[in-house]
Amino acid sequence: GLPQRVRIHEVGPRDGLQNEPNIVPVEVKAEFIARLADAGLTTIEATSFVHPKWVPQLADAGELMDRLERRPGVRYPVLVPNERGLDRALQAGVETIAIFGSATESFARRNLNRTVAESIAMFGPVVRRAREAGLEVRAYLSMCFGDPWEGAVPVNQVVSVGRRLLDLGCTELSLGDTIGVATPGHVTELLRAFGEAGVGPDRLAVHFHDTYGQALANTLAALQAGVATVDSSAGGLGGCPYAKSATGNLATEDLVWMLTGLGIDHGVDLAKLAATSRWMAERLGRPSPSRVVQALADE
Ligand code: HMG
Ligand code: MG
Repeated sequence: GLPQRVRIHEVGPRDGLQNEPNIVPVEVKAEFIARLADAGLTTIEATSFVHPKWVPQLADAGELMDRLERRPGVRYPVLVPNERGLDRALQAGVETIAIFGSATESFARRNLNRTVAESIAMFGPVVRRAREAGLEVRAYLSMCFGDPWEGAVPVNQVVSVGRRLLDLGCTELSLGDTIGVATPGHVTELLRAFGEAGVGPDRLAVHFHDTYGQALANTLAALQAGVATVDSSAGGLGGCPYAKSATGNLATEDLVWMLTGLGIDHGVDLAKLAATSRWMAERLGRPSPSRVVQALADE
């Protein structure tokens, strides 16, 4: 059956803004995050402590974390690829980090400049030190369905890399459809394979990009398989600079509309959230691609 409550892992400030052609001023980022918290989101992925040359859009990570007025009950995870990133994140006082691996060699090389095995070796000390410092550690796994260079990705390959990330000591694994090619049957099959390998839906999250318009249908398939943590980005912002053809994430507004209709608890004030996405769209100079944001604006 469907979960009674879903935890929304908002990724707009990170996955959304990492791909913007123009760099968003740090004070706009801080206000965006504050507005998302006002709208009731309790997990807001804020930024990445990656190499500033690789993602210049998020080079202000330290300054942003300094500026954030962190509220009780709200978590602000950040991406961390290596020990240098962890040092910076610890200095900024973060409580939750996310490492990010790839199910395919092609994307591991392009996104992390490493093979899959080398990237897992890079994450090992990051996870160990973070856990020792009392942090929560999420693991992302990219290219769980299809890869722009390798095509369809075998389910057993995804499960095998995913288990290795969890075995490092991560608290949660988020399954990424980086380029948005998944369909609901594939989602069901992958979640069943994880279950058969001893990884139940309580340790999994889903992360769908909406390139082919399947993100919401894929999310429903994941909910039906018992997953209760869903990643989305306000207004459908997003993409990945190192994966061609990746577009925005599932829009948080579209997710919230569906959850409300299903009677699933989510804690978000949809009107406030959509107003935030319209405010952000004005700053970015283009309308939100979210159908729900558009529909609410027309009301
Ligand atoms: P590299 O070039 O191999 O780095 O990049 P290195 O380890 O050889 O280090 C080179 C220099 O960079 C050193 O300085 C390091 O100190 C410095 P030097 O000694 O030469 O003066 N350096 C750093 N400086 C600041 N912060 C750091 C850092 N690390 C090294 N963290 C690296 C390897 C992993 C750093 C690079 O590939 C990188 O930053 N990649 C990040 C790419 C990225 O952020 N991609 C987007 C996020 S993933 C995503 O969007 C997918 C997701 O949404 C899920 C999905 O949709 O599937 C999560
Ligand atoms: Mg993503």
